[in-house]
Amino acid sequence: MKVCVVGSGGREHALAHVLARTAEVIVTPGNPGIPFSTNQPVKEIEADLFVIGPEQPLVEGLADELRKQGKLVFGPNADGAKIEGSKSWMKEILVESGVPTARHGVFTEKEAAFDFLQNLSDLYVIKTDGLAAGKGVLVTSDLVEARQAVSEYLSGKAFGTAGKRIVIEEGLTGPEISLLAVCDGQTAVPLAPAQDFKRLKDQDEGPNTGGMGAYSPVPFVEENLVERIMDIAVMPTLETLKRKGIDYRGVLYCGLMITPDGPKVLEYNARFGDPETQVVLPRLETDLVELLLGAASGSLNSNPIFSNEAAVAVVCASESYPENSRTGDFIDGLSQVQEMKGIDIFFSGVRKTNNGFATDGGRVLTITGMGPTLEKARDLTYEAVSQISWPGMQKREDIASNFDLYKDE
Ligand code: AMP
Ligand code: GLY
Repeated sequence: MKVCVVGSGGREHALAHVLARTAEVIVTPGNPGIPFSTNQPVKEIEADLFVIGPEQPLVEGLADELRKQGKLVFGPNADGAKIEGSKSWMKEILVESGVPTARHGVFTEKEAAFDFLQNLSDLYVIKTDGLAAGKGVLVTSDLVEARQAVSEYLSGKAFGTAGKRIVIEEGLTGPEISLLAVCDGQTAVPLAPAQDFKRLKDQDEGPNTGGMGAYSPVPFVEENLVERIMDIAVMPTLETLKRKGIDYRGVLYCGLMITPDGPKVLEYNARFGDPETQVVLPRLETDLVELLLGAASGSLNSNPIFSNEAAVAVVCASESYPENSRTGDFIDGLSQVQEMKGIDIFFSGVRKTNNGFATDGGRVLTITGMGPTLEKARDLTYEAVSQISWPGMQKREDIASNFDLYKDE
């Protein structure tokens, strides 16, 4: 069995690492830190299964093209990936499916957007309609800042064409979770829930990023909450997609807020989360190859099983991420950390040097530690992270540590 993973980040490294338990794996284009990387273009690769990691190729129709060539693919076609490619369309699907979500409006004109803002209170949320690498969302209690963001998004100044259409939402409050469901077009099974830390700085300060860390399991998410989310969100959404003739085979990533009125969907993504994948997949006991093959071929038949171990991941990012990122700094300490038991390093923005690796992007690497409890996993992860350094390296110190902030009270 040969599996080809498409992508080049920590998520793809984690996918490759876990798929390699039972299959021969190749990653295109990968990166110098992923052992199975190849420069061979995906369309020239022969494999029994193709797993597409990032949203961009999905939205651009890579799954369609591969399926047309007769390949077995895990990842939705462009029609399904639109659920991530257009936030306004995603909101339409949510509303049509009766899924609880924040009240919203869609705008291309400033005046109408300002009027809508005027009718919200306390917390304003502005989102680009199009893809913006997890950075196109502003949440603020300051109306002046919200209005300024509206102007900058709509003018194209902030996010180019991705922001020329915007979604404005009421702000919700409560702890957030990511529930990733594996779908085969007809049915869906949940993976273990994870919590992701999107803000750059400790205590959820600073700008939104692609994700600075994650952990799994999430103590306050019991089995019945997962079932409830499958019942009120994932399954009705899949039904709506089916009704529209969309055969959704891949991950439906459900980002939720557990509000005082119950779980509400903040967003859907059409792929595995990064860094959620780096904590969820290492806990998987079921064979990932079988699971993804089942989804790709429309024959999922059982819920995946996860170990009771906990996983905590911390992302190490380069200086001035997420605005831009300094590259070319030598990464110190990797060899000691590679020797540590219970630790995995998943590489994203790295380049090879004569004697190791240097930074080559915003999110550079994710360190995942496993342990019998979240506390032990977190301590091990931070012990590893403390040995890694380069000039200007950024990391959060509070991943999985401040449960008061994140638990359901
Ligand atoms: P999204 O990409 O839509 O998930 O938004 C990124 C982050 O912005 C989420 O993880 C939340 O932390 C925050 N966010 C998004 N929508 C809302 C909302 N309606 N209310 C409060 N926070 C939100
Ligand atoms: N961790 C957030 C995402 O993958 O979109």
